[in-house]
Amino acid sequence: MGICDENDRYSHNDWLVIMINVKSIHELDVKGKKVLCRFDFNVPIKEGVIEDDRRLREALPTIQYLIEKGAKIIMTSHLGRPKGKRTKELTLLPVAKKLSELLGKEVKFVDEVVGDKVTREVEGLGNGELLLLENVRFHPGEEANDPEFAGELASPASVYVNDAFGTAHRKHTSTYGVAKIIKEKAAGFLMEKEIKNLSKLRENPLSPFTLILGGAKLKTKIPVIKDLASLVDNLLVGGGMAFSFLYKKGIDVGDSLLDESLFDDIDNLFPIIRDNDVNLLMPLDVVIAKEIKEGVENKVVPVESIPEGWKGVDIGPITIEEFRRVIIESKTLFWNGPMGVFEIHPFDKGTREIAISIGEATKNGAITVVGGGDTDKAIEESGVELTHLSTGGGASLKFLSGEEMPAISVLGEGV
Ligand code: 3PG
Repeated sequence: MGICDENDRYSHNDWLVIMINVKSIHELDVKGKKVLCRFDFNVPIKEGVIEDDRRLREALPTIQYLIEKGAKIIMTSHLGRPKGKRTKELTLLPVAKKLSELLGKEVKFVDEVVGDKVTREVEGLGNGELLLLENVRFHPGEEANDPEFAGELASPASVYVNDAFGTAHRKHTSTYGVAKIIKEKAAGFLMEKEIKNLSKLRENPLSPFTLILGGAKLKTKIPVIKDLASLVDNLLVGGGMAFSFLYKKGIDVGDSLLDESLFDDIDNLFPIIRDNDVNLLMPLDVVIAKEIKEGVENKVVPVESIPEGWKGVDIGPITIEEFRRVIIESKTLFWNGPMGVFEIHPFDKGTREIAISIGEATKNGAITVVGGGDTDKAIEESGVELTHLSTGGGASLKFLSGEEMPAISVLGEGV
């Protein structure tokens, strides 16, 4: 039995058919075996201190299971984007220390990704013991999915587990290349949980289905809107990306963020939204400021009245109320991206209010899924309940766009 049974199968997604062959970690015999595990330990670290350890906590069920089953656990992850070069700030050493603390057990660390030192450390592992390798992106072969590097990274292990949903859209050596080599492989518990919960949004979602998108990066959101247009009832657009939408609707947005390179794509989106009867809600009022920094003068204006020299930094109170009205009546909901400049107070208000409304929707029985960066933070800090808080930002968007996830499909190949 794979992690996705026949009933979970998406007829419109061929790669999900492959997923039926993906093994669950329960199906592996790992006792005394060297198991290479890919996790997404890409966490914010400032001066050696981990600011948010959620991704580490989410990896614990898989790690604990492998410890209990007596595996020799070799953990690999990326941290940041060092582009194939060793960078002092991006070492995974603080992650090894934090994991030790969370597990109440020693996590050995080796400051290399492959090579003799790694081989020696791996050979010294006893059953149920853990070793974390240095940031896999310090090696130039990682992002290139280099076959020689894949051979080296895979060589000590006879079993491979991928629990890194956050990088499941990346065709890199540690997410893809090694899985081509190691035949005995499976998805970890977090990967499984992510797939199952995100799939609920695509397979017969209950109506009204509301998609809430924000943040500055419009490019990654366009495919999601296109792909989900036939399923969603409401599309709420906030954050920096909203100004390109407003501008294309003929509204002068002052000095607000615009992505001109995507104007044609927005033009093409409007008929898709209309033809699918999607109720598009854009900000009606916004908080504006001349500069994006703490303590600056700011005021609320209708979107049509943003003066030259001022930019939108958050959604205004009327928009918050309007969005709330739609959110609490929804039965299915997905949110990605903040409504304003979340990292600067008080421009975090809109995002926090949306988080609270989503919590209300959950209490009302809706399926609520949130993914990505600052939206996670708003949810965690508001303490609201959700059906699922994804660890993947880009990955959850790609998954919902129906694109192939190479790191998942490769787990189902050749088994
Ligand atoms: C993330 O933070 O979204 C994941 O860790 C993936 O990181 P990447 O975009 O650098 O591949």
